[in-house]
Parts: sequence; structure tokens; C-alpha cells
Amino acid sequence: MRQKIYFVLALAFVVLLLSNIADAGNLNAPMQSLMSKYLKDSGGKAFSADDGKKLYFLKRMHSKKKEEISCTSCHMDDPAKAGRTPVGKPIDPLSPATNKERFADPEKVEKWFKRNCTGVFERECTPKEKGDFITFMMSLQ
Ligand code: HEC
Repeated sequence: MRQKIYFVLALAFVVLLLSNIADAGNLNAPMQSLMSKYLKDSGGKAFSADDGKKLYFLKRMHSKKKEEISCTSCHMDDPAKAGRTPVGKPIDPLSPATNKERFADPEKVEKWFKRNCTGVFERECTPKEKGDFITFMMSLQ
């Protein structure tokens, strides 16, 4: 009986260990296929975490709002911290290092890229920009 308990505990430990390893910097299968699509649509040019970082911090003047805006306006300079919208609505951290739910659902990711890129750049982000951005975020873990 006791041996059996030790065995179950050891097994649980191994499963826990493996799931942690699988978490580290890895996108799930649906997200990997979204990344492959971005790669194909951007002509196979490799993604760059540095370019993703630049995109994240890029400040630009919004032509209609007449104010400087960037991804950091809502997601903060440190994406590991909670953000907020201009009206003060809290946003969970964007970094997958502190928020395991990030970059796990292609539909959600696409929806918010569309909305936020349009809000900041007044155009949609290119597949290359989206791939760079996700590569940067995943590198933060
Ligand atoms: C006006 C505020 C605001 C700005 C500016 C903003 N975002 Fe967001 N973003 C949000 C909100 C609100 C959500 C959805 C709520 C949530 O997921 O916590 C979100 C969610 C996201 C998500 C979904 C991630 C996931 O897997 O859950 C992505 C990707 C994203 N934003 C990218 C960007 C990028 C890229 C920029 C800069 C071009 C940007 N955001 C600028 C408010 C903003």
C-alpha cells in the first residue's frame, strides 16, 4: 500500500515537471499553426524578438485623438504588470511570464491585434509584426 502511494506521488511529480517544461516558452499547437501562417504570409522572413520589442514601445501621434499612443499606453512599460485602459478598466498582464492564459487562443489573439493595432497605428498589423510581437512576448518567460 505504502509503495503504491509513493509511486503515485512520484508519477504526479514527473507530470508536474513535464507540464512546467512544456510551459516554458512554448506556444500550444493552435498558436504554432497561427505563427506558421504569419510566417507564410510574410514570405518566410524569420521573426525577431527585437523588432517585436520595438513595436511594443513605438510611440506615435494618433491623427484624430491628437495624442501619443503605444501598446504600452494600456499594457504598461513592463508587460509583466497589470495594465489599464484609458477609462481605468484593469487589464491582466500581457506577459506570458505572469499570465499563463496569454497567447493561447488564436481567435482572441487575432481579435485583439486587429482592434489594438488599429487603435494605435490606425491600420492593422502585418503578419510579420504580429509574429515579431508574439516572439518578443514569449521571450520574456
Ligand atoms: C486602449 C488600450 C490598449 C492598447 C493601446 C493596446 N491594447 Fe492590447 N489589449 C487591450 C485590452 C482591453 C485587451 C483585452 C483584455 C485582456 O485580454 O486582458 C488587450 C489584449 C491584447 C492581446 C490579447 C493577448 C492574449 O493572448 O490574451 C494582444 C495580442 C494585444 N492586446 C496586443 C496589443 C498590441 C500589439 C498593442 C499595440 C499595437 C496593444 N495591444 C495596445 C487594450 C489595449
